[in-house]
Amino acid sequence: MNNLTLIQPDDWHLHVRTGAVLNTVIAHTAQQFARAIIMPNLKPPVTTVEMALVYRTEILQALPQGSAFQPLMTLYLTNQTTLEEVQKVAESEHVYGFKLYPAGATTNSDAGVSNLTALYPVLEAMQKYDVPLLIHGEVTNAECDIFDREAVFVEQTLSELVKNFPDLRIVLEHVTTEEAVQFVESTGKNIAATITPQHLLYNRNAILAGGIRPHYYCLPILKREKHRLALVKAATSGNPKFFLGTDSAPHLTHTKENACGCAGCYSAYGAIELYAEAFEQVNALDKLEGFASFFGADFYKLPRNTKTITLEKNAWTVPLSYDGITPLKANETLAWKMLL
Ligand code: NCD
Ligand code: ZN
Ligand code: ZN
Repeated sequence: MNNLTLIQPDDWHLHVRTGAVLNTVIAHTAQQFARAIIMPNLKPPVTTVEMALVYRTEILQALPQGSAFQPLMTLYLTNQTTLEEVQKVAESEHVYGFKLYPAGATTNSDAGVSNLTALYPVLEAMQKYDVPLLIHGEVTNAECDIFDREAVFVEQTLSELVKNFPDLRIVLEHVTTEEAVQFVESTGKNIAATITPQHLLYNRNAILAGGIRPHYYCLPILKREKHRLALVKAATSGNPKFFLGTDSAPHLTHTKENACGCAGCYSAYGAIELYAEAFEQVNALDKLEGFASFFGADFYKLPRNTKTITLEKNAWTVPLSYDGITPLKANETLAWKMLL
């Protein structure tokens, strides 16, 4: 197969930041995707509908002229989130959910939630208004091994949450383990998960083999090969509970090539090509369209896109840098290229 045409995909987990970086990265996303769920972990975090609308306007202004790309906004859940804010989200046509960052779990999560039980009234309201909860699913206690943080979160926190709020729509973001996949597979229709390209393409050796390679460092951290295989199986299974979310998370190169480097991989420049690479490795290109273009829209109760994009088998070398951001697979070859 040398050509692959799909309904235009959406990215259900994306960081675009603000200012100069936003200008660089939004053009990449808008070239490929019709819509994207925009993560709210700015400094300060996006905690109100009002702030989300200001951020949305900044994103729209940064888009290349004529782009029809639609940013789907989210709010950052904090210990102070009010019931009124949940209602405002339910009534908003631009805000699509709340993001739960356990305090200390990842980039800009210090304003995150420290006591989930105290937030139960807020979650109750989200369940009532059918507002989705998007979760960075890792425990944060310092004693927990970094490679176990997701599995422990699933076992201890998520299973409890799902029991207490059986109708709450939940997206377990960027799943990285067999345990998370099994949990999502075995729970109700209202529980889904996004999967990133880096977790489909790499295991944890990528970060450490031959030297420390900071551009493969993201959170949740890459896991063992058996987990990568479980993710590939889930993504290519045709199960609508698993859909595309790049977690493209740009950081300037010097902040990653650093004694204390930031977590996040930049993939928006060639996201659909990276996924095509992963799906082709297991001869599952026929499953890419459901994963990339249908299942996320269905979960968020949005119409599927109608335009198409075409990928061509035409190897190209990924640049070393995009305006100071080192991309995933920098200076390596990608087999597929989207036609512009
Ligand atoms: C993300 C970021 O940089 O904003 N980083 C990451 O490693 N995934 C935050 C997140 O999604 O956890
Ligand atoms: Zn995260
Ligand atoms: Zn993220």
